[in-house]
Amino acid sequence: VDPGPPWTQGDRRPGIIDLGPGYPDPDLLPVDLMREAASEAIQRYGVEALSYGVNTGPAPLRAFVAAQVPGSTGVDVLSTAGTSSALSTLATRLAREGAAVLTESLTYDLAVRVFADRGVRTVAVPGPLHDIDTRQLRLAVDRASRVSGVPPALYVMPTFHNPTGRVLSRERRIEILEIAEGTGLRLIEDHAYSALGFDAAEVPEPLWSLAPGTRLVTTLVSLSKCLAPGLRVGGMVADRETLGRLSEDGERLSGGGPNHFTSAVVAHAAAEGLLEEHVARLREQLRERRDILVGELRTRLPDGYTVTQPSGGFFLWVGLPAQVDDRALLAEAERTGVSFAPGSRFGAGARGIRLCFASCGPQALAVAAGRLVRAAHTASRSTI
Ligand SMILES: Cc1ncc(COP(=O)(O)O)c(C=O)c1O
Repeated sequence: VDPGPPWTQGDRRPGIIDLGPGYPDPDLLPVDLMREAASEAIQRYGVEALSYGVNTGPAPLRAFVAAQVPGSTGVDVLSTAGTSSALSTLATRLAREGAAVLTESLTYDLAVRVFADRGVRTVAVPGPLHDIDTRQLRLAVDRASRVSGVPPALYVMPTFHNPTGRVLSRERRIEILEIAEGTGLRLIEDHAYSALGFDAAEVPEPLWSLAPGTRLVTTLVSLSKCLAPGLRVGGMVADRETLGRLSEDGERLSGGGPNHFTSAVVAHAAAEGLLEEHVARLREQLRERRDILVGELRTRLPDGYTVTQPSGGFFLWVGLPAQVDDRALLAEAERTGVSFAPGSRFGAGARGIRLCFASCGPQALAVAAGRLVRAAHTASRSTI
């Protein structure tokens, strides 16, 4: 039987443990949960699950999304087909206005790609690796407003940043909101990893929660990282006028809420409390994996490397010594059987690499760390 084309993104390279892509390890994907939820949902909702869905998305799904953004209720949420799709929707509107999008100095490269593909100009705001320089942000807002005649938007990941894993302080979040209030800057908050905090330390509220109901913030929640990327389900939290306009958009009027059957299955799982249980387990599994990788790398990497311990999400950021180039280290690492995402993918001048500790199990992670350490020692000897 012809097995057909590949079913998933990414190529598996024999002999290489790949910590590059932000994919969850197949062992973390809730196959049994989804099988049961799909079967129960079709039994319970029958033809309702197979018709055009309500434009806003099913209520239990919206409630699950709202729970990630304190202060919001299901009324402030529109279901989406995930964050990439929501970014595309927002980018289409920004392109029509001629508005630019500012990004953090290091940012999720594929979000930049979505904006660029919709014809939106993006500008990286210079600043430190683990923070946002608000003086530079103000300058960039002024410049972009002058160039395009309308205030820009800022695409920002305050919580469990991709690629650095950083959490932005509450003070900085408030400062950014103040800049938005003073200038009309719109904030697109990517909250993709928000459910995946695994340390007891408090994470500051998302931007939307610090100014609930404001027109200046749109917060995007994804179920790709806390449940499964193949579902293509998420939610957008925004002011009611924006949500009203988007839910009456021709695409929804014609096709209903996106991915309605999948959304119904996820909504059922949410209503039964199965999602919360799964996410709680996942946090534990991710914490164990983070600890293995951080522990191995902190004790064994040569001088000059810095290992930042993230308190949530999928990614660990390793800073490189001045003489080591990220892509040269990648080539050496792949020769030893491990791969990662070079930092320069996420912004100019990044001196580091991103490792995804969600992408394989504890044993493979320990092996991957050993290989990376070997590659780093070789690199330090030859100052590649
Ligand atoms: C920061 C960030 N935003 C969005 C996405 C994609 O989200 P979705 O699968 O909901 O489109 C990713 C996936 O890697 C991500 O890291």
